[in-house]
This record gives sequence, structure tokens and C-alpha cells, in this order.
Amino acid sequence: MEAAGHSDDGTGNGKLAAGRESKGRMANLLLRKSLDTIRGEAAETGEHTLRRTLGATNLITLGIGAIIGTGVFVLTGLVASGNSGPAVVFTFIIAAVCCVFAGLCYAEFAAMIPVAGSAYTYGYATLGEIFAWIIGWDLVLEYAFGAATVCSGWSGYVLSLGQDFGIRLPPALAGVPGSTFVLFQGHWEYLGRVAAKLHELGIDPATLPQKHGVFNLVAFLGIMFATTVLIVGIRESANFNSVIVIIKVAVLLVFIGVGGYTLLHHPEMRAANWHPFVPPNLGHFGQFGWSGVCRGAAVIFFAYIGFDAVSTAAQESKNPKKDMPIGILGSLAICTVLYILVGLVLTGLVNYKFLNVPDSLAVGMERTGFRWGSLMVKVGALGGLTSTMIVMLLGQSRVFFSMSKDGLLPKMFSAIHPKFRTPWISSLTVGLVVATFASLIPLTKLGDMTSIGTLLAFIIVSAGVWVLRVRQPDLPRPFRAPWMPVTPILGIVFALLMMCSLPRETWLRLVIWLVAGLVIYFSYSRKHSKVQAAAERSAT
Ligand code: ALA
Repeated sequence: MEAAGHSDDGTGNGKLAAGRESKGRMANLLLRKSLDTIRGEAAETGEHTLRRTLGATNLITLGIGAIIGTGVFVLTGLVASGNSGPAVVFTFIIAAVCCVFAGLCYAEFAAMIPVAGSAYTYGYATLGEIFAWIIGWDLVLEYAFGAATVCSGWSGYVLSLGQDFGIRLPPALAGVPGSTFVLFQGHWEYLGRVAAKLHELGIDPATLPQKHGVFNLVAFLGIMFATTVLIVGIRESANFNSVIVIIKVAVLLVFIGVGGYTLLHHPEMRAANWHPFVPPNLGHFGQFGWSGVCRGAAVIFFAYIGFDAVSTAAQESKNPKKDMPIGILGSLAICTVLYILVGLVLTGLVNYKFLNVPDSLAVGMERTGFRWGSLMVKVGALGGLTSTMIVMLLGQSRVFFSMSKDGLLPKMFSAIHPKFRTPWISSLTVGLVVATFASLIPLTKLGDMTSIGTLLAFIIVSAGVWVLRVRQPDLPRPFRAPWMPVTPILGIVFALLMMCSLPRETWLRLVIWLVAGLVIYFSYSRKHSKVQAAAERSAT
């Protein structure tokens, strides 16, 4: 198999001639993979189809399916209770604006590099190996930590649904280390879940017996279930995706409708819960006030992750030039409107101080008195979150698969199961690691890591699109991001602003993660890279 570019395929790789002119060490780090090679491999693995069947509506549905998940079902409550209060509405608007600019840049890359790949592949073809490695390693944060976050939210809804049917786990197995449970009315309850009730009854939680979580068993089993689905290779069909999208959107619409109706008829609820709309800062950056809105935007940004799924379908789009922006902007616009309304209704129904719960929308629904509402929200959330979780794990094992195919990770990560024909070792390894994260790390910490990793990927992708427009303006681009270079610049600026509002520990973890990645690159990947090997062969 040819690994490096030997011909001029329009990316300029021919001129580079796989390293012939790039003898220096630095230049080797910037070796690119030719588009011919990428196309050839895509056809070989059967993941690639050039059937252009998707119209604008399909693309919007695809986007909504990937976007709606734990973000709106869980983080809305957590951000309102910890960062922004009712101003969670503003956090949704800021995060959406950032996604619009980055989304247009993603679409340009995706339409130009017509494989069902990810930012990793775009990086390899245009910016060079070291950037591809950094993006690939960074995407682990987006997909693996993202899957863990979604699963953590999913487990909250499972546990809550179980309780409705009298099924309870001992506290040690029902929460991550550090989560607190109190003995209330004869049952061990998650403290956040009963805080509002205790407050109403005038009970100080400190006076109740307490226990702490050790291992979130449900989250662990959830990821292992999703991993099994991926290994056995039950692919989500377009129809299945449409059904899930309808369920997710319907649940949110019912929540908005019933909650909105309740709020219209209870002005006292609105007055008590929406004032002040931006609660005053508590003395620390990020704890309410406008700094809380900024940090909240960075955290809630998680709720929009997934729209890049639209860009990766560029090659299957009937008319990418017209439909890509419609798909990306349309799915973002629909989700933004839904999210804003959910945030408004939720903080109107329940005071933000009591939204530090794993199943905030169900808690909100309980306040409306709508009999089956809470149950409906839980069941809908479970269906919706299961599909988001599977999509994220699939994304992660695909990135490892591609990196392994390129020699940047050990061969076993691209080993295909003889019967199921799926990259089972990659999926299993990812599954075990993600399940461990999900069962031991609190949801907000997982979400922060996902957000910072994804924002970094946005910056690299936006910068890449801009650099390439300057370096190779004549490359065929089926979709061109508008307002160059304003779009990538704003994409970078917004992403940087949101990254800067994340806690210092999250930054520290990101730096450690990237340094670990570079150590692996220089000690293993560089020596085993197929593109490097091909370049050396052609240089001798
Ligand atoms: N946007 C997806 C979610 O909120 C990742 O779960």
C-alpha cells in the first residue's frame, strides 16, 4: 500500500514529493498524506461511499441526532446551579455562536477531503503529521471523554427511573467517589436530588446519616453495553436515527410546552425563580455574575458537540455547496432555540440552587404536576442518550483505527474481528478505559475535559482552513466557508475565549494530556509512521 503522496493530487503533495525536499527533522514532522492514498484506503475499508443521497433535511436530522444528549438533559441544570442561574440561556447563545464559525470551517475541510474521516484525516492531508497526531490525540478528549460524560448523564436517568420502580443500588455503587447520599424517608437518596425537598421541610442535610459513592456501576455497565453493540456491529440505520431524533425533540418540546404552560399560570413561580436572572458573582471567577456566564458557556458548549457529524457527511450530500451550510446552521439553530427554551422553562420551574441533580429535566417536570411527564422525560432521555453514547464511542474507535492504519498506533488497534468485521480491539480498549472514567470521575469534570479538547480541535481546524486558503488558494473546494478570513478568525477567538474561562485544573489536565501524546509520538509513532517510511524510501 502506498503511504505517502507521490503524485500531485491537488493538495500540493506532489510538489512536496513525500519528503524529498524536506530532509530536515522539522520538515519530516510536517509530512502530509496524499489525497489519493486517503481515497484509496477509504475504498479499501469499505467505509467510504460516494453515493450522494443526503439532502438538506437529512443533514439537519443527522446533526440533531448527534447533538442532543447529556448537554441539555443534564448540564443545563448543573450549569444553572453552579455557574449562571437562569442566565444559562445566555450561555447557550454564546456557545452556539462559537459553533457556527467552527462548523463552517469543518464543512470546508470535509467537502474538500471526501472521506468519512475526521479532523485527524483533514490534518494529515493538509497540515502534516505532527498536527494530525495532535488532532487525533486531542480527539480522544472529544470522543472518549465525551462518551464518558454522556454515559454519566445516562446513568443518572437510569438510576432515577429505577427508583420509580423501587429498584435502588447501595450508595457505594450508585455514584462516583465524592458523591454524597443521605438517608431520607427510609431510603439512601442522592443529596442533590433531595436538596430542594429538604430545604422546603427545613431539614439540614448535615443532620441526616450520610454515605458516599465509590464506583458508578450503572455508568460502567452502560459503556460496556454500548461497546458490545459496536463490536457486534449493529449499525444504526438512517431510520433508527430518525426515530431517535423524533423522540428526543418530542420530549424537549413536551417539556417546553407543559413547563411553559405551568409558568404562564404561576406568575409567583416566575417571580421567585427568575429573579435575579444573572445572580451576583460569589467572589470567584465563574461562580455566577458575568464570569459565571462565560464559564457556563464553555461548559454548556458540550451540548452542541456532534454537529461535526454533519460535515463528515459532506461527501454523501447531494449538493454540498448549498446543503452543507443549511445542515450545519439549521441543526445548530434548531438545537439553540430548543436549548434556550429548555433553560428558560427549567430555571422558571425549579430554583437554580436546586438544579444540581443528575436528572434535572425530570425534576423540572415533577414541578408541573403532569402525571406521566417525569417518566416520559426519563424514558426519552435514555433512548436519546444511548444513541449519542454509541456515536461517540464509534467516533473514538474510528480515530484509533485510522491512526493505527497509518502506523501511528500499534497494529492491534486496526485488527478486524473475523466474524463481526469491526475493529474489536480498538473498541474494547476504548470501552474499558471510557467505562472506568465514567464510573470514577464526576460528570462536570468529564464534560470540562471534553469541552476543552473539542475547542482545541476547533482552533486547529479553523486555523488549518485559513492557512490552506492562503497556501493553496486554487484547490477545488466544493464548499467554501464564507467571509474569509473572518469566519476562521472568529471561530478561533470564540473557542479561545471559552477555553480561557474553563478552570485552571482543566487546562493543567489538557497540557498533561498533550505532553503525554507528544511523548508517545516521538517514542513510538514517528518511528512506525508509514508516511515517514515511504518518504525515507523515496529519498534514498
Ligand atoms: N452534544 C452531545 C450531548 O450533549 C455530546 O450529549
